[in-house]
Amino acid sequence: MYRYGMEELDAMKRVIESRQLFRSNNGAKEVEHFERELADMTGTKHALAVSGGTGALICAMIGAGIGPGDEVIVPGYTFMATALAVLAAGAIPVLAECDETCTIDVKDVEKKITQYTKAIVPVHICGFPSDMDALTDLAVKYGLIIIEDSCQADGGSYKGRRLGSIGTAGAFSYNYFKIIGFGDGGAVVTNVDRIYERALIYHDGGAAFRPYAGDLHEPVFCGTQLRVGELFGAFMRVQLTRIDGILSDLRRIKKTMMDALKDVDGIEFAPSHDIEGDCGTTLPFRFCCEDKARAFAAAVPGGWLPIDSGKHVYYNWDPVIEQRGAHCDAVNPYKMAANAKLNLQKYDRNSLPQTNDILSRTVYISLNPDWDDAKVNELIEACKAAVK
Ligand SMILES: Cc1ncc(COP(=O)(O)O)c(C=O)c1O
Repeated sequence: MYRYGMEELDAMKRVIESRQLFRSNNGAKEVEHFERELADMTGTKHALAVSGGTGALICAMIGAGIGPGDEVIVPGYTFMATALAVLAAGAIPVLAECDETCTIDVKDVEKKITQYTKAIVPVHICGFPSDMDALTDLAVKYGLIIIEDSCQADGGSYKGRRLGSIGTAGAFSYNYFKIIGFGDGGAVVTNVDRIYERALIYHDGGAAFRPYAGDLHEPVFCGTQLRVGELFGAFMRVQLTRIDGILSDLRRIKKTMMDALKDVDGIEFAPSHDIEGDCGTTLPFRFCCEDKARAFAAAVPGGWLPIDSGKHVYYNWDPVIEQRGAHCDAVNPYKMAANAKLNLQKYDRNSLPQTNDILSRTVYISLNPDWDDAKVNELIEACKAAVK
């Protein structure tokens, strides 16, 4: 959450004064407007606001009919929530390597496809767009669903299309660490009516009885409670208006740094599947070995290695690795009879050697859209000095 202030406060004041804090109250329209504005921004037919990115992924999975008996391919480099969402739907996450851009490696995805694979979840990690053309070809070839985890890529794009709108469904997070947010929150987008309706039913056990549900064509099943309130809607409507300004400042700073450093001996950047659509939150340097990467990171203010990013690296996902997939065995996907025939491979520290190698030779600098020229120049000089 880079930018928020008086405009958000005014929007929330409006809601408090109206005394309509629940989205289903008569006359409450903030969440509804937010959903319409997000759908328009992403160019999708439907958007559904939910309580977080994990909830958005779960709604997308359940909306798409993913469940026990299905394998879902996820990258080994993503926040653990991507895999948790697969398990919450009763399916099994199958891990794939990341490529040189740190997003899911399409070649490895193809190797992991079995007759039980139902979906691929590309994660636009740190705002880096995944290889969506190649993934779409693969999805068509094998009849698979794509759920884009765009939780770290609010507003980003790939070849002119907003991330999250290219696959069958997309999920966004609005927690405090995201490009825009409300402290916590999320949203699902899709063009598929059935996915939207099923996500709507799942996200609010009482949705079918609420005015905003409209006429449902899907049979109502038991869902849960992942709703958001009107304060979220009001705040997020303002955040949405900020996104293109935030991204354009981030991209300008990233480009300035890359232009200034691209010919410097010893500096190499990780490649991108679409540098124009990249969110610009992160400048990724690539080195020949971990020692050089660590030395560079230590010498540059704010430098860090993605291999050190805890629950973003597959071998740190303890409950997944240990196959404790739920609160009791009867609903643990790893123990379900429907999943007995699937790829229940146990993962360990060495399961994805390519991912380990790439992440340990990469250094990130997290950028901020509000840095001035002096700060950017200071960082450029620090990078030049560090690489020497
Ligand atoms: C890639 C990714 N997926 C999913 C999530 C889950 O989002 P939330 O924390 O809003 O549930 C996050 C958030 O941290 C994330 O970074």
